[in-house]
Amino acid sequence: MSVNAPRHADGLVDLRSDTVTRPDAAMRRAMAEADVGDDVYGEDPTVRRLEETAAALFGKEAGLLCPSGVQCNLVGLMSLATRGTEVLVEADAHLVNYEAGAGAMFAGVQFRTVQAPDGLFDADLVAAHIRPDHFPLTATSLVAIEQTHNRRGGTAYTPEALAAIGATVREAGLPLYMDGARVFNAVEATGSTTEEQGRQVTALSFCLSKALGAPVGSVFVGPADVVDAARGWRRRLGGAMRQSGVIAAAGLVALEQGPGRVAQDHEHARMLYDAARAVLPDDHPIAPPTSNIVYVDGVDAPAIVAGLRERGILAGSMDPTTLRMVTHRDVDTVGITRATDALKTVLAS
Ligand SMILES: Cc1ncc(COP(=O)(O)O)c(C=O)c1O
Repeated sequence: MSVNAPRHADGLVDLRSDTVTRPDAAMRRAMAEADVGDDVYGEDPTVRRLEETAAALFGKEAGLLCPSGVQCNLVGLMSLATRGTEVLVEADAHLVNYEAGAGAMFAGVQFRTVQAPDGLFDADLVAAHIRPDHFPLTATSLVAIEQTHNRRGGTAYTPEALAAIGATVREAGLPLYMDGARVFNAVEATGSTTEEQGRQVTALSFCLSKALGAPVGSVFVGPADVVDAARGWRRRLGGAMRQSGVIAAAGLVALEQGPGRVAQDHEHARMLYDAARAVLPDDHPIAPPTSNIVYVDGVDAPAIVAGLRERGILAGSMDPTTLRMVTHRDVDTVGITRATDALKTVLAS
């Protein structure tokens, strides 16, 4: 199979996650040809180019390439929050649910979790839950948001909502961190810009290896002093890499090509939703997708996953009654059409 072949060329349409994408030929070529050096000495020109490009895109002073989104989140907590304080975060956030307790263990913070509709805070909710630094209260030292919100189905903050939260958090004198693993999906879904996203937060991170399709890596961007601190924490966590220009080279291709094509993933998500809507009873509540994540609630999810698997479609279940499908660059319209046909058959039975 060619390195460029879409996933369904080997018989499977993989909709379990957008993390399953594989580097295409342009990325592999860029990796092979990358100019590299020792990045711990600050001497890898390709890493520098990626970090500078990412920072400029979001209107920030500096950037830091990390091996993963989880490590970006962790260095974000370590450089922005204060040990022994609270981080205000939505209850279904990745930070809280899927990072194996890293924030508590390494950053020494406790999460103040607040459930928000669709996983999205609003300014009033944030203001109501910030705790002052007034002994013996556990003070809030950081507010964290997720863009798009993974566990709540790829929902996104509009630029207006983001601006209102940004203003509230600034007024409280606190930093605001965005886990922007899928921020490019949010930019597309809300008609926003990367600059607008960056302006409202102190720092953010985004994943090169999800919608953008690179094999490895996430980038943390923010003010120079915060990124310097994050660089120190990355080192202590063992995440400082040497000739990581080979990773950055694929990341640069991903940054150049990826954002322009996520609209297609959103269209594909809509096709999956339409297929489900077409066969489910009218009163079966399912929400249209905001971006590239489709949830079908109120179904026998393991049975549907098994039925789809028999037809060469890989999907996931969030829980026993919620089916999850995620669109991405390695599934084209032919693959999605196969998936919609299979989904209709399995849901109808
Ligand atoms: C919202 C969000 N943040 C962070 C991450 C972590 O990324 P990684 O698994 O690459 O470390 C993910 C991964 O799915 C995610 O969905």
